[in-house]
Amino acid sequence: MSNVEEGVNEAEHRIENGALSGDRRSFFASASSLAMLGGLAGSYGTLAVMAGRFLYPAGGSPMRWMFLTETGRMKPGDSFKYTAPSGHTIAIACVGKTGKAEDFLALSSVCPHLGCQVYWEAQNNRFFCPCHNGTFDASGRATSGPPAAAGQSLLRYRLKVEGGLLFIEVSVDRAVASAEPSLSGGQDSCPGVRDPEGAC
Ligand code: FES
Repeated sequence: MSNVEEGVNEAEHRIENGALSGDRRSFFASASSLAMLGGLAGSYGTLAVMAGRFLYPAGGSPMRWMFLTETGRMKPGDSFKYTAPSGHTIAIACVGKTGKAEDFLALSSVCPHLGCQVYWEAQNNRFFCPCHNGTFDASGRATSGPPAAAGQSLLRYRLKVEGGLLFIEVSVDRAVASAEPSLSGGQDSCPGVRDPEGAC
C-alpha cells in the first residue's frame, strides 16, 4: 500500500471514529436529557396528584346518579327503602303529585341518635324512630325525642327527574359510610338537613 493510500485510510478511520464518538456523545446527551425530562415529568405528575388530593380531599369519592323508579309508580304517601352501592339504606318518599324532583324525599334511614332504622309514617307525615320515639318531619328535621334534643337531622340525598324517571345521587364508594351522621348522639353542627357531603 502506498503512503498516499495509507494516509487516506488513516484519515477515513479517524473520521469514522470521530463520527462514532460524536454519535455516542449526542446519544448520551439525548439520553440524559430524556432522563431529566422524565424525572421532571414524574415530579410534576406527583405534584399534580398531591395538589389534586389537596384540592379534592377524600371526599373525592365518586358520586353517581342511580335510577330509583318511574315517578308515575309513586303517589303521595308512598315510600320504599333503597340500598345504595355504599351500603347505606335510604328512605325514598313521595310527598307531592307534580312528578317533579321536589315531590320526592331521599333521607338516610339511619337515625342520627344511636343508629336505629327510621320509618316513614304517611298518616303522620313524618319519619319515626321506634328505639327512643325520635321523630323527624318530612324534610328530615328532628322534631321530638333525643334527635331533636341533640339537634340531629337525617342525612338528605339529592334527587332528579329525567323523562319520568327518578334518580338519586349517591356515592359508589363503601368508604363513604363514615360520612353517615354521628351515631354517638353528639350535637349535630348542622341545624337543618344535610346533603350526603355533609353540607347544610
Ligand atoms: S336511635 Fe333513634 S331515637 Fe334513639
